[in-house]
Amino acid sequence: MRRALLPAAALAGALALTSCGAGSDSGSGSDSSTAELSVSASYMPQPVSADMAAGFLTITNKGSTKDELTSVTSNVAGEVTMHSTVGGAMEEKTGFAVPAHGQLVFKSGGNHLMFEKLKHKPAQGQKVTLKLTFAKSGPLTVEMPVKSATYNPSTGH
Ligand code: CU
Repeated sequence: MRRALLPAAALAGALALTSCGAGSDSGSGSDSSTAELSVSASYMPQPVSADMAAGFLTITNKGSTKDELTSVTSNVAGEVTMHSTVGGAMEEKTGFAVPAHGQLVFKSGGNHLMFEKLKHKPAQGQKVTLKLTFAKSGPLTVEMPVKSATYNPSTGH
């Protein structure tokens, strides 16, 4: 739906829109100057270890202002850290940008959340609660389902 931009505008826009998510921007005409954040596709693979677990989710920003995920907390973990994966090595980050009209994706093999100092070991079928804190927007609470240890979101198994 952004194909109708004039070429000059498209060039400038392309930089900001490279990570624009597919589909869900249904042209509500919303041009507010705030970030409009929502969370989807969250899951935790049932951890194999009793003291650490990973978590994945997608944050979509339908607003015209970028925001930044600055911290994550959970009821099941003493600490939740945010990591990126660069060239196979993971690196702890203190924040992740959520681009305007874009997405911040945490997925297996890429950016991920790490739940440390687990208070109990999450089991498949349970849910864990997360609180996401942002630089500008109010916090979001996420009920993250615990899936099998080998869950693959693209097949749903
Ligand atoms: Cu990590």
